[in-house]
Amino acid sequence: MSDKSKDLNSHWAGPMRTIAASNEKGGVGKTTSAVNIAHGLALRGRRVILIDADSQGNCAPSLGITEKKGTLAELLLGQCSWKEAIITARPGLDLIPSGPRLAEAKDGLIARLAAENVIALSKGRPPSSDNNFLAKLLQPIKDYDYLIIDCAPSRDILNMNAIRFVQEVLMPVSVDYLATIGAGQHMMAIREAQEVGAEVYISYVVPTFFNKRTIKSREILTELQSFFGNVVTEPIPANVSLAEAPSFGQTIFEYAPNSSGAMAYTHLVEEICRDENKKNR
Ligand SMILES: Nc1ncnc2c1ncn2[C@@H]1O[C@H](COP(=O)(O)OP(=O)(O)OP(=O)(O)O)[C@@H](O)[C@H]1O
Ligand SMILES: [Mg+2]
Repeated sequence: MSDKSKDLNSHWAGPMRTIAASNEKGGVGKTTSAVNIAHGLALRGRRVILIDADSQGNCAPSLGITEKKGTLAELLLGQCSWKEAIITARPGLDLIPSGPRLAEAKDGLIARLAAENVIALSKGRPPSSDNNFLAKLLQPIKDYDYLIIDCAPSRDILNMNAIRFVQEVLMPVSVDYLATIGAGQHMMAIREAQEVGAEVYISYVVPTFFNKRTIKSREILTELQSFFGNVVTEPIPANVSLAEAPSFGQTIFEYAPNSSGAMAYTHLVEEICRDENKKNR
């Protein structure tokens, strides 16, 4: 092991980093990035909690987890305990899984807030503007080095909750034209959150599905770099092993540790670890 990698593996005692893998554009590699980065960090001795905030619930199967006692939906509705919802997925990596009930839970929470506000208004009290259900729930989580949220591909209330809760956004962007439009739209959503006081910023723009042999991939990478500057990371290649690993319930480090996908996520995890000591990441 080189001295450099020893440093990256040494335990870090800073405040918990909170990162949302988010982009309202679908299929750009949010879940793939969230799961592999979470595991990569755990392999480097970080204590990580991964929270699946997408009703597609892809994080659990990607980690080979089929049994769930509770999910984020039940937690939000107060219908299960933390103990039931938190699964130890790997050494150092805990998961709060998700599932289809999340959509129902979201509607239920909005309806509950609306009803409370009707009652408040009828009693001459101001309505509550506090609709950050996720922040209220996740606030007590402290015992980790990293809290990573895998967001759904939308601009719904839970995603906006997630963006307002975290400090950092890691935005995967697949290197195609429509995805760059999606990236711009997502940046606007983050600006809106900043305007209402969220101290969140984009710390990583991760180009995904990169193919160095195509001009289009290289052009879009250059475009992303000139628009987002030095938060653009090394690209993640289009790599069949990354697509296959979830069907075996394995991360890329388990399924194909020598693949180009594993190398790229290793570099990204190292970059994230290096930033731990930066003041303004
Ligand atoms: N770099 C890659 N190379 C090849 N396949 C990939 C790569 N990244 C992700 N995939 C595959 O592409 C599909 C979409 O990836 P993923 O689920 O991570 O995207 P997402 O942004 O989370 O999607 P959604 O918006 O639906 O949540 C998945 O089948 C995944 O296995
Ligand atoms: Mg996803």
